[in-house]
Amino acid sequence: MNPDPDPGAVFAKIARRYDRLNRVLSLGRDQEWRRSVMVRLPPGRLLDLGSGTGAARPLFGDRPAVALDPVSQMLALNPMTVRVAGVGEALPFSGRAFDAVFSAFVFRNLDSVGGALAEIARVLRPGGMAGIVDLARPRRKAAAALHRLGSAVIVPAAGFTIGAAAEYRYLHRSLDKLPPPERLYADAVLRETALRRLDLWRMGPLGFVYGVILIKEG
Ligand SMILES: C[S@@+](CC[C@H](N)C(=O)[O-])C[C@H]1O[C@@H](n2cnc3c(N)ncnc32)[C@H](O)[C@@H]1O
Repeated sequence: MNPDPDPGAVFAKIARRYDRLNRVLSLGRDQEWRRSVMVRLPPGRLLDLGSGTGAARPLFGDRPAVALDPVSQMLALNPMTVRVAGVGEALPFSGRAFDAVFSAFVFRNLDSVGGALAEIARVLRPGGMAGIVDLARPRRKAAAALHRLGSAVIVPAAGFTIGAAAEYRYLHRSLDKLPPPERLYADAVLRETALRRLDLWRMGPLGFVYGVILIKEG
């Protein structure tokens, strides 16, 4: 089996066609899933962690927002005014710099979720909130098996249509990389950070999308 390509290389390669294909793969519902998280965040200065091409930008309204992404090809396509190169695990911002952190479809690409959560806690002001939306496997075993079969075929096939089958095979495998969100954001895990879970919910067919809202205590 070929080793997975580096996530940075994946997103550099698919940057131009990423948004269109994503919309198709999510049956046009990706923005609805982002919005369900965004509407729960407090007003004020916002960080879009792993902003990509800025697909979430229309949801930010007139709040001051900073786009952060490690892939220059993604940032180059992002219309946001303030764009910063960097990774979620080492945020290039001072402490308490943001009222809210938003992150869509990024967490399963991170090298260290714990490291990114610690960094989010550091850059949030006390009482600030983080909203994360990402893909996972459905909760029920049978549904997860069906979803795994579907994504093994459909996702790389869709990638093939844009000449990026290997990259989209990586996206399929990334769905199994992390524990289910109910464990990933369990109180015991968050206790290592200053974050507390306010809400976690499932969306989409078979519940393969989740949203989570975390608050910075103190
Ligand atoms: C699936 S795209 C999502 C982009 C955008 N948030 C959206 O909703 O369309 C994942 C993004 O995460 C970025 N990314 C990968 N590793 C990252 C890391 N360690 N820290 C921050 N962003 C990362 C990728 O460059 C890519 O732009």
